[in-house]
Amino acid sequence: MEIIILPTPADVARTAADAIEDQVRSGPSVVGLATGSTPLGTYQELIERHRTGGLSFAQAQAFLLDEYVGLPTDHPQSYHSVIRAEFTDSVDFAAGAVHGLDGMAANPAAEALRYDASIEAAGGVDIQILGIGTDGHIGFNEPMSSLVSRTRIKTLTQQTRVDNARFFETPEQVPDHVLTQGLGTISQARHLLLLGLGEAKADAVAAAVEGPVAAICPASALQLHPHVTVLVDEAAASKLLHKEYYQYAFDRKPAWQGL
Ligand code: F6R
Repeated sequence: MEIIILPTPADVARTAADAIEDQVRSGPSVVGLATGSTPLGTYQELIERHRTGGLSFAQAQAFLLDEYVGLPTDHPQSYHSVIRAEFTDSVDFAAGAVHGLDGMAANPAAEALRYDASIEAAGGVDIQILGIGTDGHIGFNEPMSSLVSRTRIKTLTQQTRVDNARFFETPEQVPDHVLTQGLGTISQARHLLLLGLGEAKADAVAAAVEGPVAAICPASALQLHPHVTVLVDEAAASKLLHKEYYQYAFDRKPAWQGL
């Protein structure tokens, strides 16, 4: 796990966009997309590089991490709609290349199986963007999620519903249930990019990176993955015990190594 502490959210966005750009320019790629506030700067940066720097997603496919159960695809807060509005409609993915879970599926268990199979059929995810919840969730794998879980239905914690209420007119409108890639599904991506911004994420980042690997902090499962880059701003890094070492190692990073 490489932990990179950067001065500002804009630096995090640029560095994350560099990693995605390198992957997408290397050939046909499968990119894993998170929703929520954290990756918005990264998406803006990628849109800008598409508009002005010739970065093309025409050969790429994308898979979303999760979806609210009970919201139709065209609901403004469905993750299908959100990712289109925030990113994918502003670049050049081919029609049908952006995949998500169907929150209205009559049989959520079958939908989850279909989704894992479609990720596999696409060759697996090359690079996965992840945000982190204040309770340590990634995707919507809430505390005590199995560390090897597959895509399935989960119940959001009250904390996550409160955290996400800002996107809805009233807190009660936040759905109770979600379909989410499991921790085992996410861990099959070849490169994981965990982004953390702001003081509110400091405890979760510290627990994920320096705490024990334990289901109480689902993001701690990333410690078992061979290629994880954690990109955090100073505020999100503020509770890390070994901050100085991470900075020291980054300052001495061999130029050829990349992310
Ligand atoms: C969203 C997702 C979640 C968010 C997390 C942080 O697709 O998978 O894990 O990344 O809830 O949300 P923000 O970025 O809004 O703080």
